Amino acid sequence: MTLFQKYEERAQTELLDEVNFAKELGLYPYFMELCSEQGPIVKFGDREAIMFGSNNYLSMTTNPKVKEAACQAIEEYGTGSTGSRLLNGTMDLHTELENRLAKFIGTESAVIFSTGMQANLGTLSCLLGKDDWVVSDEQNHASIIDGIRLSKVDKKNKLIYKHNDMDSLEKSLKKIPKGEYGLIVTDGIFSMEGDIAKLDEITELAETYGAGVYVDDAHAIGVLGPYGRGTAAHFKAEKKVDITMGTFSKSFASIGGYIAGSETTCQWVKHRARSMIFSASSPPSAVATVLAVLDIIEKDDSHRQKLWANAKRLKKGYLEAGFDIGHSASPIIPLIIGEDIKTFTFFKELLAQTPRSVYTNPVRTPATAVGNELLRTSCQSSFDFETIDEAVEIITRIGKKLEVI
Ligand SMILES: Cc1ncc(COP(=O)(O)O)c(C=O)c1O
Repeated sequence: MTLFQKYEERAQTELLDEVNFAKELGLYPYFMELCSEQGPIVKFGDREAIMFGSNNYLSMTTNPKVKEAACQAIEEYGTGSTGSRLLNGTMDLHTELENRLAKFIGTESAVIFSTGMQANLGTLSCLLGKDDWVVSDEQNHASIIDGIRLSKVDKKNKLIYKHNDMDSLEKSLKKIPKGEYGLIVTDGIFSMEGDIAKLDEITELAETYGAGVYVDDAHAIGVLGPYGRGTAAHFKAEKKVDITMGTFSKSFASIGGYIAGSETTCQWVKHRARSMIFSASSPPSAVATVLAVLDIIEKDDSHRQKLWANAKRLKKGYLEAGFDIGHSASPIIPLIIGEDIKTFTFFKELLAQTPRSVYTNPVRTPATAVGNELLRTSCQSSFDFETIDEAVEIITRIGKKLEVI
């Protein structure tokens, strides 16, 4: 038997049975083809859906100035960089973005990567040595988990604390022997349930136990803190966070990732992070997109304020209808269902509505704990209250039908 024959068998039993089962029930929810831009209303084929499943928090994917900047960058710089940042792949645009980001976030320096996943993989794996300790929230994003896996940290030095639980974090920190080095890693806004890390308490504990702090602001940059400067700015804890990581795939309406921190740390990462060194840099249009979004949000906080007003409206609608929205404190608002099949049925029913349906993200393990299956919904700044109310009305109707509420 060859590896691929073995794999065929494995795929059949482990994956395809599950996929086909879901398809037969008409509940398979993945890889749906969108036929429009990622706006507040999207199209699947010729059918319209209210987009409640996007990370386009500031609705910048369709902003005319942003689109124009991306097109202009293609005209000026072409379509691709064709190389690693280390060699031929650094354009003046890349350096400009690093400088602008550092200034925006309030750090000495920043380094950009081609995706946020690569930023976490490359940075965590090159910062953590064999004898270091890492203390990570149990609900951190997969890219953090994999970045830690890629590092040389000894298995016994990897500590997972209960989600946003400061007692559990402190217990973990106490395990770090005197004279050894620890790093606390947390999402800023948690990606599935929309709650916010208790960064004020985390940074205090870090000070007490002499640990470093690494915050993944993928969902918080552009959303939290004055002008969207992120979780540390929200808690006025900028000086207490060693590294902020983020992505351009959400509020920045592009693709790419970054870390921001001290000049020395950034130099280390630039010369040691394998996901950066051995991968081509971001295309000029992607970088110019982020620069154009920065141009807007540095001066104008209205998109973010609209986003929060919309999130407040949506949250109120859900709570009045009786949904369990967990501990959401951000524009990511989950509807906790607690069961696989019901979650997928809810998702499909919402999409089947006419004349307009609602697109949400069905989430199951490993993205959330078993028993906590949920529909992840999220706001955009460009929604109007009418659209939000329309979606809440549809969601409430289906929620009642499926006895979720
Ligand atoms: C918390 C978090 N970190 C990192 C990433 C990875 O970002 P990217 O999409 O840029 O690879 C994501 C993306 O979903 C995320 O939610």
